[in-house]
Amino acid sequence: MALLGVNIDHVATVRQARRTDEPDPVWAAVEAELGGADGITFHLREDRRHINDRDARLLRETVGVKLNMEMAIAEEVVAIAVGLKPDQSTLVPERREELTTEGGLDVVRHRARVKTAVGRLREAGIIVSAFIEPVAEQVQASADIGFEAVELWTGAYAHAKTAAQCEAAVKALTDAIALGRRLGLDVHGGHGLTYRNIGTVASLPGFGEFNIGHSIISRAMFVGMREAVREMKGLLTRYAPLA
Ligand code: PXP
Repeated sequence: MALLGVNIDHVATVRQARRTDEPDPVWAAVEAELGGADGITFHLREDRRHINDRDARLLRETVGVKLNMEMAIAEEVVAIAVGLKPDQSTLVPERREELTTEGGLDVVRHRARVKTAVGRLREAGIIVSAFIEPVAEQVQASADIGFEAVELWTGAYAHAKTAAQCEAAVKALTDAIALGRRLGLDVHGGHGLTYRNIGTVASLPGFGEFNIGHSIISRAMFVGMREAVREMKGLLTRYAPLA
């Protein structure tokens, strides 16, 4: 069954709405762990719009499950990751004007810069994953560059408006999973996954991890973080492909 990484960024988004000290994303991470999260994911953005350096430091000190740091390949952030040593770094594209990470990192186009960042992070003992679109050239380039994992952008599936779009998105994911696995990569999935749409992707064989944020944090407002995580874990169990 795929592991569940809970992205706690949007707990910090609420805190930053008032620039105060609550709700605390570090507390949220503890609650997520108690609800059964297999990992905690956070994104230290260059503009620090939600998670800040204090959060990153305390998360590293307190999280007992896999700690996954999403990050751009910017020099400043790579240096922080090398010092912090999360268990895993997921390299993502980052644009200041975007609402959230939109689409995957173009590892084909930025091959040289990405390779330098991957080398530095791996040297620090960090597993490095590429957040990419489910496209063969991107999967192949990720393996060539030295990534150990890829996280496939599930946005096309999550935002599909018609059955045909949904089918095409699922096929792209299925093909990318198969190629990634053939190349020896761990294959993860994330973006736009919710309690309503997780079933189809959770039932695809080959996904080792899902990173889910907005939907879990939204549900946690009504049922609490532990319960929200427990429910998503329940869906991953219910829809898990047969071994
Ligand atoms: N995975 C990656 C690489 C992301 O950038 C994000 C968004 O921060 C997520 C997963 C979680 O996406 P969502 O909040 O839509 O569940």
